[in-house]
Amino acid sequence: MMEDKTNSPYIILVVEDDEALSVLIQKKLQKTGFRTESVLNGAQAIAWAVDNPSSLMLMDYKLPDMSGKHIIEALSDRQCNIPFIIMTGYGDERVAVEMLKLGAKDYLVKDAGFLNLLPTVVKRVIEHLTAEKILAEAEERLQRDKELYGNIIESMSDGILALDRHFFFTHWSNVMERIFKFPREELIGTTKRPWDVFPYLVEHGVDVMMRQAMSGEVIEQENIPYYLSDGTRGFTSNIFLPLRTASGKICGIVGVVREVTEHKKAEEQILKLSCAVEQSPSTVIITDTKGNIEYVNPKFTQLTGYTSEDVLGKNPRILKSSETSKEKYKQLWDTIKSGKVWRGELHNRKKNGEHYWELASISPIKNNKDTITHFIAVKEDITERKIMENQLVQAQKSEAIGQLAAGIAHEINTPTQYILSNIHFLRDSFSSICKLLEKYSHMLEVIKAGSVTPELLTEVEVMAKEAAVGYLIEETPKAIEQSQEGLNRVSEIVSAMKTFSHPGNVEKITVDINEAIKSTITVARNEWKYVADIETYFDPNLPPVPCFPGELNQVILNIIINAAHAIDEVSDKGNGGKGIIRISTRCDRDWAELRISDTGAGIPEDIRSRLFDPFFTTKEVGKGTGQGLAIAHSVVVRKHNGTITLDTEIGRGTTFIIRLPLFPNTIEKGRIS
Ligand SMILES: Nc1ncnc2c1ncn2[C@@H]1O[C@H](COP(=O)(O)OP(=O)(O)OP(=O)(O)O)[C@@H](O)[C@H]1O
Ligand SMILES: [Mg+2]
Repeated sequence: MMEDKTNSPYIILVVEDDEALSVLIQKKLQKTGFRTESVLNGAQAIAWAVDNPSSLMLMDYKLPDMSGKHIIEALSDRQCNIPFIIMTGYGDERVAVEMLKLGAKDYLVKDAGFLNLLPTVVKRVIEHLTAEKILAEAEERLQRDKELYGNIIESMSDGILALDRHFFFTHWSNVMERIFKFPREELIGTTKRPWDVFPYLVEHGVDVMMRQAMSGEVIEQENIPYYLSDGTRGFTSNIFLPLRTASGKICGIVGVVREVTEHKKAEEQILKLSCAVEQSPSTVIITDTKGNIEYVNPKFTQLTGYTSEDVLGKNPRILKSSETSKEKYKQLWDTIKSGKVWRGELHNRKKNGEHYWELASISPIKNNKDTITHFIAVKEDITERKIMENQLVQAQKSEAIGQLAAGIAHEINTPTQYILSNIHFLRDSFSSICKLLEKYSHMLEVIKAGSVTPELLTEVEVMAKEAAVGYLIEETPKAIEQSQEGLNRVSEIVSAMKTFSHPGNVEKITVDINEAIKSTITVARNEWKYVADIETYFDPNLPPVPCFPGELNQVILNIIINAAHAIDEVSDKGNGGKGIIRISTRCDRDWAELRISDTGAGIPEDIRSRLFDPFFTTKEVGKGTGQGLAIAHSVVVRKHNGTITLDTEIGRGTTFIIRLPLFPNTIEKGRIS
């Protein structure tokens, strides 16, 4: 075999039954540098071609077993499209044409110049085949790239459109179809421009932007509205870029379209919320988890006098007044750090030193992983309300004390009366005992001098008899004891008054409720003792309750007086028919509960809903003003976060139930009612 000068990957299969000619042909080709093989008939040619499809067949048309045409048809049946050159005898050009139609790359007529022409023809065919192959590969690559870019474009979450130089659509991605609910078939390949299909683009200047992009600018637009055929409106943010050929000439534009409707809605929502916070009549403070202030709203500045600059990065404790206890703050932080909401009243100080009261609700803000990221405090200035409430309670308290004063005076008067008469008795008996003692000491002198007379003895005896010494010895200790009892009673009443009219506290203090009730019962004794007996059932294990004791006593007094009045209404006066007021306390998990029940007439259905209304009364002028239960409600519910309810049965009596939280500032989410 000759040296391969062409480097051609093709092997030339010579299909020729004339062996001598076949050798000549092969030699000629080998000389030019081609590799050759040869077969003598059609069957061999088919078998070889199937095994070596990327070869070139140089085929004689007439073979002993079949014609060239049959070979090609047989190969085509086997899906083998091997390139071939046909060789025909002289004068057989008709066959040549037929074979060209069947796909022959060229033909050679076996005439005198045949062997000389052969290498040129084969070379040309091979060159042609090589060029074809390169082209096919390039096309395949192009197709692959096209698919890849197409896939990239289609897998983008943004919509992509492309327009040619005339603003006719050349691309409209799936996302575009989804956003605008418009199929690409109605755009691509048509002579519609974007503004022909979507006229509103002109209104929002999108056509101008597209033209600018077509002249080479990169254009960005945000929040451009679009409208669907069903009337709904959405928003997109768009970028338009010029599209250039390899030589840099602009051949169209590409648009990248992002659907931002939800985003814009969320933004609007946030805007609304932030407006609400900014304009809120409540103070809003947001801190990080360490308590450093990150945000305060204008109301905060208005109320406290501190600007945002004053407080950003600082701890809200700058507002703390000395009246709010450390424990309260600790409890506040413990509550919110454990993920719960803290509610309570805080006594704070403004920048100018003025004090104020606020009702605060402080909650943790959590991220989607349930981790606390911030705290938010929403607070209401309740200074005015506190002052008014205090004034109201104070007014009623003064009134009650005035009303109680007569009763208390009476209560103190009784023991005072008998203490006084005992003292009279002791004074008289002391003076007669003194006289007697003088007589006795005179008698002693006389006896010592030995001059005692029977008259003197009789005189002393008469005097002792007159002084009723035996009686005095018996009665004096009794009088002293009785006076002592009386004084104890007085001091008990005085101390109960003190406990009852507890000075108003700024902060809640923990109090033994049982003691508080006892003192109230004592000071109010004159109000109930003629109509009822009081029975108490105190829970000795009731923990101290955080409260405003003065105000709570007032509530208990109001309810006891109501109970006495209710019993008085039904009691059979003069027949000794006294009623019973039962007072009990108990601890119910996180609550202290106290019940005050009476054996009065009960409360008719139709007035039950109005009992706690201010100035609602069924009593005659002078007996009631209708403030008692209104104040009780305000004190228990507003000031103590407690509840006040009642149970009543016509003809049997009424029970008022007061429940006070033992941990009043800890309110779990969802439990606030
Ligand atoms: N234990 C009770 N039994 C029956 N009715 C009651 C009882 N407690 C309150 N009421 C009814 O509720 C009304 C309102 O009570 P409230 O204590 O608010 O006012 P008042 O007792 O009428 O006047 P004030 O307490 O201001 O002197 C009473 O007038 C009475 O009709
Ligand atoms: Mg009352």
